Amino acid sequence: MMKHGKAGALSGYHRSLTASHGFEPVRVEGKLPDMLRGTLFRNGPALFEHGGRRHGHVFEGDGAVCAVRFSDEAVECAHRLIESVGLQQEREAGEALFGSAAPWLRRMRNGWKQKFKNTANTSVWRWQDRLFALMERGEPTEFDPETLDTIGTTTLDGLVAGGFSAHPHRVKYRRADYNFGLVPGRNPYIQLMELPWEGAPRTIGRIDLDHYVMMHDFIATENHLVFFIAPVKLQILRALLGSNNLEKLFQFDPDSGTEIVIVPTSSPAEQVRFQVDAFWQWHFAGAYEQGSGIVVDFVKHPDFGSLGELGQTQRSGLGRLTRAFIDPATRTMREEPLWDCACEYPRIDPRFDGGKHSHIFVSYDVCERVLARVNTTTGAVNGWNPPAHQYPSELVMIPRSNRTDEGDGYAISLIYDELEDRSHVAILDTARFEDGPVARVHLGHPVPMTFHGTWVPDGDDR
Ligand SMILES: [Fe+2]
Repeated sequence: MMKHGKAGALSGYHRSLTASHGFEPVRVEGKLPDMLRGTLFRNGPALFEHGGRRHGHVFEGDGAVCAVRFSDEAVECAHRLIESVGLQQEREAGEALFGSAAPWLRRMRNGWKQKFKNTANTSVWRWQDRLFALMERGEPTEFDPETLDTIGTTTLDGLVAGGFSAHPHRVKYRRADYNFGLVPGRNPYIQLMELPWEGAPRTIGRIDLDHYVMMHDFIATENHLVFFIAPVKLQILRALLGSNNLEKLFQFDPDSGTEIVIVPTSSPAEQVRFQVDAFWQWHFAGAYEQGSGIVVDFVKHPDFGSLGELGQTQRSGLGRLTRAFIDPATRTMREEPLWDCACEYPRIDPRFDGGKHSHIFVSYDVCERVLARVNTTTGAVNGWNPPAHQYPSELVMIPRSNRTDEGDGYAISLIYDELEDRSHVAILDTARFEDGPVARVHLGHPVPMTFHGTWVPDGDDR
C-alpha cells in the first residue's frame, strides 16, 4: 500500500498554488555560470481541489507554468496558472465540473459526451518560437513567454485530431519535431505528426489500434518513430458510468503483451509490428540507429502500478533504465539493464536528440533521492543525493556553450524544500556532480510538483 512520505499530502509539494505572479527578481546563492542565459519553463498540476473536493489523482490538477529567467541584469521568476476554459467554467459554477471531484451524474454525462478539462499540466513545448503547455489528452495550450498569460488551446491549423502527447521529440537531422496523438472512437488510432522548425505541420500517418490504450511517450531516431504500446486498456464501461477512480479506468493486461511498432519516418505505412512480453514505460531517454537495428533507451516498469504512485513522496521504485536492441528485419527485441537503481524522467543532452548518445540524466524524488548522469558506454554514474527534506524534479541539461563534449554543461532541477516550505532551482555542474549545486535560485515560495520542463536559451540554438 502506498504511504505518504514525511512531507505529507498537503506539503507545498501537493498544496494548491496561492502565489500567481509575473516575473519578479529572486535571490541567488552561490555563483551562477556566466553562460547561463535563457529561461527554464516547468509545468505541473497546481490546483488540487475544486468546490472543497480534492482530486482523486494528481493528473487531474490544473496546470501552472513556473519560469525562471537568467539575464545579464537579473534572475527572475514567474508562476501562473493555465487559465483553461474548463477552469473558468468551474470558477463561474463554484464547483467541480470535471474529473473525479465532480458529482457522479455529471461525471457520467461527461463520460458519455467525452467532455473533459484540458488542464495543460504536463510539459512545456517550444515550437517555432511559440510556447505551449501540453496535456496528452487535449490540444496544445499556447501561452505568452513574457507574461505566462494563457493565450488558449489550438489545433495547430487543424492538425490535431484528438490528443497531443506531452512528449514531442525533436530530430535535428530532419529539422523537425515529431509527436503523436491518441484519437478515440469506434476505430481508435495513433495520429503521427511532423512539426517542422519552419513551415506548416502535417499528419504523416497513423497506427491503427484494436482498442483505446494509455500511451505517454514515444521516441524518434533520424529515420524512424518507435512506439512501445503496452496493454493498458481503457475500461470503457467504467468510463461511461462515471468512475472517479483513474487507476481503475485503465487495466494492465499482461497476457496481451507489449506491441513494438517501428515506423519509417519517410514511409510511415511500412510499419513493422510485433509483440514482446508485457511491460510499461512512461518515458524514453533517446534512440538511434545502429547498423540495421535501433537502440532504444527507456525506463522500464514491470506493469502499470506506478500510476497510483505518481506525485507521491514514496514509491515502490520499480522503474529501471533499460536499453533495447530492436531488429526490425527479424522482428525481435533484446534488452540489457543500464543501471540497477530506481529512476525516472530520463533526459539526454539536447544537442543529441534523435542521434547517438551516451549520457542519460535521471532523477528520482522519492526514497532514494538522486540526480545523476549515467554513462551508457562505461557504466559510470555521477550523482548527487539531495538531503532528505528536499524533493527534486526532473533534470534539464544545458550544454556548456564553449564545449562540444556530450553531457558537459549544467543540469538544473526545481527542488521543493520541506523544511523551508519553499522551492529553489539547483544548478549542478555535470563535470562535478558529486559536489552538489554550484548555485541555487531561491523562488521565495513553494512550487507544487512539476512533471516536465524545457530550457529556452537566449538566441537561436538550432
Ligand atoms: Fe511524462
